[in-house]
Amino acid sequence: MRDDTLARRTRRGFAILGAALVASIAVETEPLQGQAEARHADVTFNRDVMPIFQANCQECHQPGSIAPMSLLTYRDANKYARRIREKVAGQVMPPWHLDKSVGIQEFKNDRSLTEDEVATILAWVDGGRVEGDPSDLPPPAEFPDPNAWRLLADFGEPDLVIASEPYTLEAVTQDKWFRPVTPTGVTEPRWVKAIEIKPAGNAARTITHHVLAFLEQDEEDSPMSAGIVQASTRGGAMGGAGLFMEWAVGKDGEIFPDGAGKIMLPNSQIRWEVHMHAMGEEVVDSQVELGVWFYPKGQEPDNRTRLMFYNATGSGLDIAPNEVSVTQDFHVLRYPARLENFQPHMHMRGKAMSLEAIYPDGRKELINQVSNFQWNWHVNYIYEDDAAPLLPAGTTLVITAWHDNTAENPNNPDPEQWVDWGDRTVDEMAHLWVDVTYLDQGEFDTLVAAREAARDLAEQSETSSNSNERNR
Ligand code: HEC
Repeated sequence: MRDDTLARRTRRGFAILGAALVASIAVETEPLQGQAEARHADVTFNRDVMPIFQANCQECHQPGSIAPMSLLTYRDANKYARRIREKVAGQVMPPWHLDKSVGIQEFKNDRSLTEDEVATILAWVDGGRVEGDPSDLPPPAEFPDPNAWRLLADFGEPDLVIASEPYTLEAVTQDKWFRPVTPTGVTEPRWVKAIEIKPAGNAARTITHHVLAFLEQDEEDSPMSAGIVQASTRGGAMGGAGLFMEWAVGKDGEIFPDGAGKIMLPNSQIRWEVHMHAMGEEVVDSQVELGVWFYPKGQEPDNRTRLMFYNATGSGLDIAPNEVSVTQDFHVLRYPARLENFQPHMHMRGKAMSLEAIYPDGRKELINQVSNFQWNWHVNYIYEDDAAPLLPAGTTLVITAWHDNTAENPNNPDPEQWVDWGDRTVDEMAHLWVDVTYLDQGEFDTLVAAREAARDLAEQSETSSNSNERNR
């Protein structure tokens, strides 16, 4: 990809950079004085802020959903105004922690606020939290059941639901890892278009920290077995069909582009790893569920997608007390590939993570970076089909992770500790989860050519509309 492609991809790059600047100035100085305030001089809650909250916050911030407080009314919002300002200005809420000033910005599940929405919220807080005219209030928003599948709106109910064995977690106990095995019940090979994992119900949601679902199946006869498993280098796919899906709070699901997907075979089973964290109340019969949406029978995508685990910890993790540490690792793609998503995984001391590509010809590109990682949010950034990175064989993926083990990090449980790699949330990790679709060379070339053609077309229409304007 050329630099100009990247610039163009950042469709909202300008606006976004603006928002980041406004936000960072706003955090550090007294009430926002500049442009935004002038533009938003008469902001009221009822007219201007409520619609933003309805569209971007209330799904989680309502009784019975996952957030600690409700934001359904003026009273709620007024009470939390200072915290709202801080979280919105710092791009912590809504949970979308991707650095908007660099890399690809086109995602299927982008839930971030626009520059204007951020400015409106800040102006409302700084301008005296005016409630406004009750007749300006939009009708209450309606929300899907918080326990429903997130992909329901896109795909309807899943074709297959696999539930883990029930587990009862004591009120107070160490972190628990539960590893049951559940047959999938699949009787013929089926290609998977989308998958989602969710805790079954409110109680399960409070204790489930994260879930891994490995798909175990006999792949000896499968045309797409060995070669592609080995397409990963170090830290690649793990056993059998590999990891089917990973879930943690903040993650919706995985959707594969048309023509790509995962395959489930007869007699397959899911080996779960459910990481639970006691919450002070006993939870009886907690379960997690895996929802699967299939391609129609007979429709076979050409390409298989694999969930890869790309470590940043080449020489291990060894984080000194009171230090910000950087670790880095390299993974070479042996086949042409399209990356479908970007999802950093770290724990409480996680600060930032980036993915860069070094192309076989030596060019370097920063694909994406999360610069204010929030350990309790595992946001999966799913690329738009026409923005997903297409990388030739021989590309080196460079994963860089930053951990903040100082007292500056408000989530740090103890800056005096040496911290090592480990499963507990007080230990650390540093890897990226990436769904990789390996392509054959012909298809890769076709996709690259199609993108270039689309870009040239866009360029042409840009030039011609500019000259039209000039001619006017
Ligand atoms: C996907 C669900 C989700 C969305 C969308 C969301 N929040 Fe949150 N929010 C949470 C959860 C869960 C927490 C508590 C955990 C945390 O702080 O990360 C939280 C915490 C917060 C807090 C901190 C509360 C405290 O006591 O410190 C504020 C303020 C907040 N959200 C405001 C907002 C605003 C404003 C929006 C919309 C612009 C929004 N959130 C969108 C789920 C969400």
